[in-house]
Amino acid sequence: MGRKILLWVLGGLLATSASADDRQLVQFPEMMRGHMMMNMRDHMSALAEAQSLVAADEWDRASDVIEQRVGMSSMMSHGASHMAPLMPPAMRALGTEMHREASRLSRTLSEADLQKAMAGFAALTERCIACHAGFRVH
Ligand code: HEC
Repeated sequence: MGRKILLWVLGGLLATSASADDRQLVQFPEMMRGHMMMNMRDHMSALAEAQSLVAADEWDRASDVIEQRVGMSSMMSHGASHMAPLMPPAMRALGTEMHREASRLSRTLSEADLQKAMAGFAALTERCIACHAGFRVH
């Protein structure tokens, strides 16, 4: 009985790692990959900073952080125009959707409504998850 459960758990683990390998590998030149990973880490920090600012009732600053570092405004400073052409179209579309969702969240944050803000943060995070589920560069 215990053994059956163990096999079942192992099977589940293997199935999980197999599905992780289903992500499409995108070949980026080394420098671009480094640049993109730096952007990724900054997106993550920006999310945490914005959430802390909301918790401190600093809605306008939270709105700025999201727009400048993740929203449509961040596309220039993050060199999106150099990277986007190297992406498969589906990945590029997910990237654009993520920036658009962030700009939407930025506008929501200026309304200073906690429940709407939480929904907006979730919607943005789902955009991150969608791309991570489909693509890898390593
Ligand atoms: C258009 C696709 C795409 C979107 C959208 C996206 N990412 Fe990523 N992200 C990637 C890829 C590809 C990797 C590398 C995964 C791999 O090779 O295993 C990555 C890696 C990362 C990493 C790891 C960085 C490192 O140094 O290892 C972090 C953190 C991250 N993303 C955060 C985010 C956050 C937060 C968001 C949303 C605000 C986001 N990403 C949106 C594609 C995306």
